[in-house]
Amino acid sequence: MRVHTYEKAFLIVGAALLVVFMIALTYTSVAMGIHLPGKVAMVDPAALATTPPFDQPGVRQTGDNTYEAVVVGQAWQFLPGEIRVPAGAEVTFILTSRDVIHGFHVERTRINIMMIPGQIGKTTYTFKTPGEYLIICHEYCGAGHHFMFGKVIVE
Ligand code: CUA
Repeated sequence: MRVHTYEKAFLIVGAALLVVFMIALTYTSVAMGIHLPGKVAMVDPAALATTPPFDQPGVRQTGDNTYEAVVVGQAWQFLPGEIRVPAGAEVTFILTSRDVIHGFHVERTRINIMMIPGQIGKTTYTFKTPGEYLIICHEYCGAGHHFMFGKVIVE
């Protein structure tokens, strides 16, 4: 079989790009420590009602301008459904699910994390601009999936 010169060139370029991407991926994850927001700990989804901090979902002030939002996802709502913080607040979201896998995406931000039963997810974001930010479930979770929403209100 004779491989055309151009085909050969494309194969070489393709293979070289793969190597470049693998190196970039390894460098950013290992050397720079950049990861997707994800699992930080485990929790028993059946015992959320008695397991802190999930026994009291809600927003708490933890410092001058830092807040912690503990959110439980369940079919088909977020608890609490409304998160209220002042502008400039740095909010750490601590999340889990009571039943099936849900998604947690806050519109117009980079907050995008899975709510997985049994796992605790964590991500931090600073809300600089006042306004209402829609929270949507972006993982199909059953008949009421498209009604599952909440909001962050930045005052
Ligand atoms: Cu919860 Cu889709």
